[in-house]
Amino acid sequence: MESHQDILKQAQEKVLAALSPAALKEIEREFLGKQGAVAGLLASIPSLPAVQRRDVGKNANLLKKAIQQALAERGEALAATSLSAERKGEGFDPSLPPASLMTGSLHPITQVTRELEDLFLSMGYSVIDGPEVELDWFNFEALNIGRDHPARDSQDTFYCDEAGKFSLRPHTSPVQVRAMEKLEPPFRVVAPGRCFRNESTDASHEHTFHQMEGLVVGKDISVGHLIGAMKTLLRGIFHRDVEVRLRPGHFPFVEPGFELDARCPFCNAGCSVCGRTTWIELLPCGLVHPKVLQMSGIDPEVWSGFAFGLGLSRLVMLRYGIDDIRHLLGGDLRFLEQF
Ligand code: DAH
Repeated sequence: MESHQDILKQAQEKVLAALSPAALKEIEREFLGKQGAVAGLLASIPSLPAVQRRDVGKNANLLKKAIQQALAERGEALAATSLSAERKGEGFDPSLPPASLMTGSLHPITQVTRELEDLFLSMGYSVIDGPEVELDWFNFEALNIGRDHPARDSQDTFYCDEAGKFSLRPHTSPVQVRAMEKLEPPFRVVAPGRCFRNESTDASHEHTFHQMEGLVVGKDISVGHLIGAMKTLLRGIFHRDVEVRLRPGHFPFVEPGFELDARCPFCNAGCSVCGRTTWIELLPCGLVHPKVLQMSGIDPEVWSGFAFGLGLSRLVMLRYGIDDIRHLLGGDLRFLEQF
């Protein structure tokens, strides 16, 4: 039988003569593979006289390590040679930029949502979440929108069962109810998220869109608090003071209810964004209806609150000058790559 030394010598010679990584693999197989020389040595141990066994085993392991090391060193040398050959070769241009990495970016809705979350967190609000498939109770009933209420028509959504118990939420307002049922007043929360409506789509309507709901419950909450919070919000979004006005608006879960308009941040005398009126319809809001507080277990004699529903999709469109809501969730990379 060949000695360890002989095997090592043979292996080292072959390794030094190898000219490619493939040749090294072949040598590795020959010496270290299942049928290789080292395996042969190990297999012979049981048939050896007991006194030799230990030494043969030990040497076989040393041999294996030595061959592995020779292979690794030669591998590195080959890689270095091939790199320097490539560099010296024709057509190598060190000034070429490296292959570009494909990096993604955050969706504009995610960017604006995170910015608003930070803003509200700095104002002492908590950010909360609610389900997208929602019970009729939270979507409508507990918001004072009974079975036959006409507001169900303008908020027609996708129903998930024959009985109409579950549906995709048509607004983020159900999270208000979940908050009132769960939290002890006083509290302030915002709830951003996806909403769905059974809607014919056009440049300003989409079956899936985003809102951010806001709810503040405390003692002696008034319209003044609402206006103050909205002005702070607008200052955060547009980085300056923005004039606001309230128009009456009807939503069954607030009383009184308003449409809050902001002075157009893009012009002084009217532009295409504000339809030449200098006002932009920004968000519906109001003081929480006492009946809604009561239904969620909050005593309207002690507590009051205000709520608002910020159209995130609309805000993103305003911010980036996007003229068609269908771009937002269309998934077209030519659109998304711009953010
Ligand atoms: N949830 C309403 C909608 O999507 C918007 C809304 C109106 C939300 C008034 C509010 C509110 O919180 O106070 O049509």
